[in-house]
Amino acid sequence: MVIKMEKMFTPQQIAYFKTQPTPFYYYDMDLLERTLIALKAATPNDFHIHYALKANANSELLKRIHAYGWGADCVSGNEIKRALEIGFNAKNIVFAGVGKTDEEILLGLEQNIFCFNAESGHELIVINQLAGQHNKIAPIALRINPNVDAYTHKYITTGLEENKFGINPYELEDILSLLKTLKHVKLIGLHFHIGSQITSLTPYKNLCLRANEINHFFIQKGFFPEHINLGGGLGINYAEPNTHSIVDFASYFAVFKKFLEPKPSQSIHFELGRSIVAPCGSLISKVLYIKNGINTNFAILDAGMTELIRPALYQAFHLIESLETPSDDSRTRKYDVVGPICESSDCFGKSIVLPELKRGHLLAIRSAGAYGEVMSSQYNLRNPVKSIYSTEIK
Ligand SMILES: Cc1ncc(COP(=O)(O)O)c(C=O)c1O
Repeated sequence: MVIKMEKMFTPQQIAYFKTQPTPFYYYDMDLLERTLIALKAATPNDFHIHYALKANANSELLKRIHAYGWGADCVSGNEIKRALEIGFNAKNIVFAGVGKTDEEILLGLEQNIFCFNAESGHELIVINQLAGQHNKIAPIALRINPNVDAYTHKYITTGLEENKFGINPYELEDILSLLKTLKHVKLIGLHFHIGSQITSLTPYKNLCLRANEINHFFIQKGFFPEHINLGGGLGINYAEPNTHSIVDFASYFAVFKKFLEPKPSQSIHFELGRSIVAPCGSLISKVLYIKNGINTNFAILDAGMTELIRPALYQAFHLIESLETPSDDSRTRKYDVVGPICESSDCFGKSIVLPELKRGHLLAIRSAGAYGEVMSSQYNLRNPVKSIYSTEIK
C-alpha cells in the first residue's frame, strides 16, 4: 500500500524530538484544544458529555478536557480516583464495566457518583447488597445490549448478543421483576454502547431506533428512565490525519437529534473517548536496524506493541511517516515496520512505502492519542513510555 507522505511537524518540533530519548508519545495540545472547542460548539445544550478515560487517562490531557465542564466515564476504581483528582465532579461520573469489584462499587457509593451502569442481574444484586450495608441507594442505569451492529472490528464491537456486555432485551422482564425486589438500587437511566471506531452514522441511527423501543418498553412497564446514555464510539480518520484532524461532531449529534425520541424531561448523555484524544497523539520512535526480508525490508524500531498495541491487537491501521528531510536523490522503499518485542504480531504496518530509512531516523506513528499510552505495558520489562507535550517546545 502506498502511504502519502504528509507532514504535521515543524522543523523546531523535529529538532526537539532529536534531543529526546525515544520512544515517546507526543501530544499536540493545540490540536486537543481545537478539538475541545469544536466539540463544545457542536454539542446541543441538552446533551451531556462524559469523557471516556479509558481512551487516555494522561493527567495533562484530562486537565484540558475537565476545563470544558464535562463529566467522566470510568471503568475502574482507579479511573474514578484519577477523575476526582483532576477535579471532575463526582455528580458527573458514570461507572461502567462488566466486572466491577466490591471495592470499586464501594468507592462509587462513598463518592456519590452520578450513576453505575449495571451490566447484569447478578451485578444489580451485589450493588444492592453493598449499598444496603451502607444505608445507601445506588443510582443505576441498565446497560442494555441492543443487538445493533456497529460495523467495526469484532474486538471493538460491543452491542451484539454474542458480546459479553450489557443485558439482552429478552432478559428485561426478569430484570424488571428483580428491580422491584431490590430496595437499595434506583433505576435512573438506560445505557447503550455499541462499539468503537464507528465511521458510519447508520449504526447510530439504528441505535436510536432501538433505544426508542426500549425506552418505550420501560415507560410502559412503569419505570421512567431519567436519562438515556448512548455511549461513545465515534471513529476518526486514521488514513488522513492531517486533512481530517477534527471529527465532525455536529453530524454525529444531528443523528441523535433527528432519530432519538426522548420524553421532554429525559436527559441525553454520551461517553466519547477516541474522537476527542486520538488525533492529537503520535508515537515517536527511532529506527534501530534495517534487516532484509524476502519481499520487503524490515525497519526495526525502538517502539513496539508495548507502547502501542492497537495494530497487534486488532490489526489497526496507523499512518506512519518519516520525520527526516529526504535528500534530492533519496529513494523510497517498502518496509515492514516492526517493533523489538518477541512476538510476531509486533508489527506497526506491512509494506509501508517510506523514504529510504537509516539507523537513527525518526518515525511518527500518527493518531495514537487514544488507546495508546493508556494500553502500554512493561512486557519484556520495558520502561514505561514517556510523554512530551507541544507546550514544552519553544
Ligand atoms: C462503555 C463504553 N463507553 C464509552 C467508550 C468510549 O468509546 P470511544 O473511545 O470509541 O468513544 C467505550 C469504549 O469502548 C466503552 O466501552
